[in-house]
Amino acid sequence: MILAVETSCDDTCAAVIEGATIRSNVISSQATAHERFGGIVPEIASRHHLELVNPIVDAALAEAAVGLDEVDSLAVTRGPGLVGALLVGVSTAKALAAAAGKPLAGVDHLQGHVAANFLAPEPLEPPFLCLIASGGHTLLAGVTSHDRHEVLGQTLDDAAGEALDKAARLLGLGYPGGPAIERAAGDGDPEAFEFPLAMTNDPRLDFSFSGLKTALLYAVRELGDEGALDRRADLAASFQSAVVDQLLVKLRRAARGGSKRRRLPGGGWRAVALGGGVAANTLLRDRVAALCEREGLELKLVDRELCTDNAAMIGSAARYLEPTRYPGYLEWEPRA
Ligand code: KG4
Ligand code: ZN
Repeated sequence: MILAVETSCDDTCAAVIEGATIRSNVISSQATAHERFGGIVPEIASRHHLELVNPIVDAALAEAAVGLDEVDSLAVTRGPGLVGALLVGVSTAKALAAAAGKPLAGVDHLQGHVAANFLAPEPLEPPFLCLIASGGHTLLAGVTSHDRHEVLGQTLDDAAGEALDKAARLLGLGYPGGPAIERAAGDGDPEAFEFPLAMTNDPRLDFSFSGLKTALLYAVRELGDEGALDRRADLAASFQSAVVDQLLVKLRRAARGGSKRRRLPGGGWRAVALGGGVAANTLLRDRVAALCEREGLELKLVDRELCTDNAAMIGSAARYLEPTRYPGYLEWEPRA
């Protein structure tokens, strides 16, 4: 039984897992606190974590119906993330572990997104290929064991979620941008505007989204304020489709074993998983499902709640780590 804490960005999260089973998974989103700024303000995120973290930990224990003395160990995200935000979770976990006399595991946030796939009801066993696309990261991870992943390709500039957030801001759709773009795109034509498909002729598995953002800016300028408002649904649909297209091209190439850095003996991967907030996107989920169907790949799509940041995935990653005993973890610092 593991009590896990995650505060790397703007969600305050705590969870209790027992083996691969989630006993509780409590998430307090701060999205409304950051909405009027059109993005996350790090200092505000830290202050909210500070107010929320104790009640959220209490709620996770209460919902799991266990006391702190009953858990075997604790786990916490050490990085990467916003340093002030991480500091709150790391300090909280150290204090709880020390007070309860339990060992503590420090977890890599991205390994957490990978480990969301190891949770019940249908844990996915390695090897598999995992596309992680969030507000902070976009990468293709080759997962050959439970305790680590290899980065096969990653974004060279903006993350996919960051691009969606910036596009939503430009279109006046609010924050967080991914869900706002998805809603607006529902009434739009994805072929109305032709946005560039960056990096697709590049043999590597890396991504780039900053050119896409610039293309949207030019399209909006050309239309003028009123014109852009009239065509907002089409702009959102075309932008969303361009982001998903790029993710799909690289995912397909990686799935077929087309990485320069690593070739699997059989030529490709047999299973594909998605993680990160952008994996909550219906168009992406549908397109990846169709790809897997065509290519004969097993597909693992965790619930949307396990795609976005949460502490259950951090607990899941911790199951495969040796936790550190008191006082070894007291010197840990968060990794920005
Ligand atoms: O993994 P996550 O919760 O936090 C980070 O570690 O970044 O991901 C948040 C990102 C944001 O950029 C948000 O706009 C995006 O995921 N996102 C979505 C959707 N829901 C969240 N993007 C596209 N479609 C969605 N439905
Ligand atoms: Zn994340």
